Formats: sequence, C-alpha cells, structure tokens
Amino acid sequence: MGLDLLLGLQWGDEGKGKIVDVLTKNYDIIARFQGGPNAGHTLKFDGIKHVLHTIPSGIFHPSALNLVGNGVVIDPVIFRKELENLDKFQIDYHKSLLISRKAHLILPTHRLLDAASEKSKGSKKIGSTLKGIGPTYMDKTGRNGIRIGDLEFPNWKEKYRELANKHEELIAFYKVDLTYDLQKLESDFFAAIDFISNKLSFVDNESVLANAQADHKKILAEGAQGSLLDIDFGTYPFVTSSNTTAAGACTGLGVAPNKIEDVFGIFKAYTTRVGSGPFPTELFDETGEQIAKVGNEFGATTGRPRRCGWLDLVALKYTVQVNGVTQLMMMKGDVLSGIDKLKICTSYNYRGETIYHLPFSLNEENLTPKYIEMNGWEEDITQCTSFDELPSQLKEYVAFIEDFLETPIRLVSVGPDRKQTIFR
Ligand code: IMP
Repeated sequence: MGLDLLLGLQWGDEGKGKIVDVLTKNYDIIARFQGGPNAGHTLKFDGIKHVLHTIPSGIFHPSALNLVGNGVVIDPVIFRKELENLDKFQIDYHKSLLISRKAHLILPTHRLLDAASEKSKGSKKIGSTLKGIGPTYMDKTGRNGIRIGDLEFPNWKEKYRELANKHEELIAFYKVDLTYDLQKLESDFFAAIDFISNKLSFVDNESVLANAQADHKKILAEGAQGSLLDIDFGTYPFVTSSNTTAAGACTGLGVAPNKIEDVFGIFKAYTTRVGSGPFPTELFDETGEQIAKVGNEFGATTGRPRRCGWLDLVALKYTVQVNGVTQLMMMKGDVLSGIDKLKICTSYNYRGETIYHLPFSLNEENLTPKYIEMNGWEEDITQCTSFDELPSQLKEYVAFIEDFLETPIRLVSVGPDRKQTIFR
C-alpha cells in the first residue's frame, strides 16, 4: 500500500490542517515530514477552534496514528504546550503520537540566533516566524545538530552545552541589541525535554512506515508551509528552510518516491503571503482589505496580518508541476462572495515580454501580472452542501482553474468547519 501526500501550493496557510482533519478517517497514519512550530494548522469542529504547530492534524481522530517525521524540527517547549493543550480532549497521545529519533531539536539559542539574524538584516529581513527554524536546519546540514535520538544517550547534555556556547559566540558576532535570560530559557527547555521523554515514544520512522506499508496501512503525509516557500523552488531567499514540496516527503519520512500515490494540492481561491518577499498579484486596495477581513487573514502562529491578492495561475501551474499534483482542493471560495469582478493572473509581463512561467526572480520591478476577468457571485455559500447548489459563476471559476492547470478540483471548501466541505 502506498502513501498519499497533501501539500500547500501557495505561500502557506492554504488550509491544510482542515483538510487533513477531514481526510483522516480514510487513513491509518498521518505523518508530518518537514517544518516545525513555524506552522499553524487550524482545525474547527463541534464549535471548537484548535491550532496545531508540530503535532499532525490527525490527532483528534481516535483511530489514527500520528507521526512526526525525521524532516521536522522540534521545539520541546512549544511541543509540550501543544500536548498540554490537548489534555482537555482526553487524547491518549502516548499511544497515538510517535516522534522520529532522527528529528532535530530546536534549542533556545537557535531561536535567539533567528532573532539576531533577522535584526541584523534590517529592512531586508525574511519576516521569519522567529521560531529558530533556519538556524536549526543550518546546524542539521552543518552536521552539528542534536537529534531526538540523542536524548537516549547520557552524554547529550555535553553536546548541548558545546553547541549552545558556540551559538552564544555567534549571537555576539551579529552585534545587535538582544537581551535574554538563557538560564530561564534552558530551565524551560530541559523541563520540556523530560516531559516529552516521559510521555512519548521515539521511533525509527522509516521502519515504522515500511512495516505499515507491508501491513497495507494507509498513510497520509501532511505538508507544512507552501510550495512557494520551498528552500529550492520557492521565492528564495524569502522562503523557509526546508523542502515543502513533494520530494521533501521522501527525505522527511524515509519513504521511496515510487511509494507515493495521490498528491493532493491545496490552494486558496485567492492568494496570501505572510512575511517579506515578492508577491506579484498582491492587492493594495479595498478589495484586498475585504478579502483579509472576510477571510480572517491573520497568521495562526504569529498573528501577523497576511498580505492578500488575486489568484496566480502561473505560480500554481509551476507548483502543480513541481509536486506532480493529481487532485486539487480549493479553499475559502466563500471569502470571494460579494466581489463583483474577479481577476485571475494567467501570465506575467517580464522585461516587456509576456511569459507563462515563473522567472528566476519575482522581483516586482521588472514583473507585472496579466489578468483575465471573471464575474463574481453575490450569494453566501457557507451553507451549501453540494457542488450543484453553488452559484454558476463559482462553477465557472472552478472550471477555468481546472482547465488551466489540467488537473481536477476534487474538493471545494466553503467555510472553516469540517462540515463546510464539498466533495465532487
Ligand atoms: P521561518 O520558516 O519561520 O524562518 O519563516 C520564513 C518565511 O516563511 C517567512 O516569510 C514566514 O512568514 C514564512 N512562513 C513560515 N512558516 C509559515 C507558515 O506556516 N505559513 C505561512 N508562512 C510561513
């Protein structure tokens, strides 16, 4: 039995958490493969809203096994808080949540380094969530990192001290004004490590998944962030530090590429971005404000307002291709209700020429989007339960996207709740 993959096709915040939660009943295992607490996956059910950062979005289903893969970076302090927030739901996470021994730890000094690096960049800052993601992946590839499996050996604290001391020297090197109390940060860190070590099972995830596949179990890999934030294929350097695209699931879980079956690509009916970096279809007018307000476009992790803009099909075509998407899922169609004319970007004007692909740089100065215009719809669609009930203009919007991307849209989401999901 193979593995299905679900990932975001834009700059993150597409609504992956909701869809994983909706799909979990079809799977035995839900696995996260990259990123860390920079992610914020929001789930809404039974009148409750819940945000997950590192824990896979299948955690609320009693029968699903949830796995944090080797490609994920873990902040024990945040992880502990997430676990404690689950206590009111009576989830037996000792049984239902496994962590890879090969996942890397985010140290308190990684977070401080993130802050120092961003401060030193001034107006050129990435707009990082400041969770220590970049510095932790740097230590991973620099072969200095500390992994979950290290905690099972008695000398791990020596390794920790050595690395933390080096980080303090690096922080000083940035010469920025940063005040911190490392002793306090460390005491929270060590307490959280003890908590996690006592409560959770550490595993060799590649073996767990290979055995599960041999037992014909169904696995869903849950991506975090979005494809345009991929370290290789995103809008570098304004990206995150992991591979958010399909290949990241292979390296972040230890599964072979030929085991991947369906690739579900999630996108919003418009585009958003949080943090710095190019965004060709960004809106700076009342329509942008309306989308932000109706769509409640504020970061689930940082609370920062998200930048909003029209749907960009040039970028989507690129991410559908890089990921090998087999099925599309369109989120937040309801947010566009009441906008008279909708624009969709289908090409760019780049240095005076019309192009249909993403150029090396999306620098706004030499690139402008070219749009087609479609009729919007007035109706509130949040109570619709079947595709047939949707306004004809929305059906045309869907058909246009499918046609352009040559990929079927299998699901249309019309609100944040589990129930507001239309399968086709
Ligand atoms: P970092 O991964 O926290 O270093 O942030 C790098 C860039 O990715 C920043 O622009 C962040 O706003 C963006 N980013 C990171 N995680 C997410 C996410 O889960 N959703 C949307 N943007 C994200």
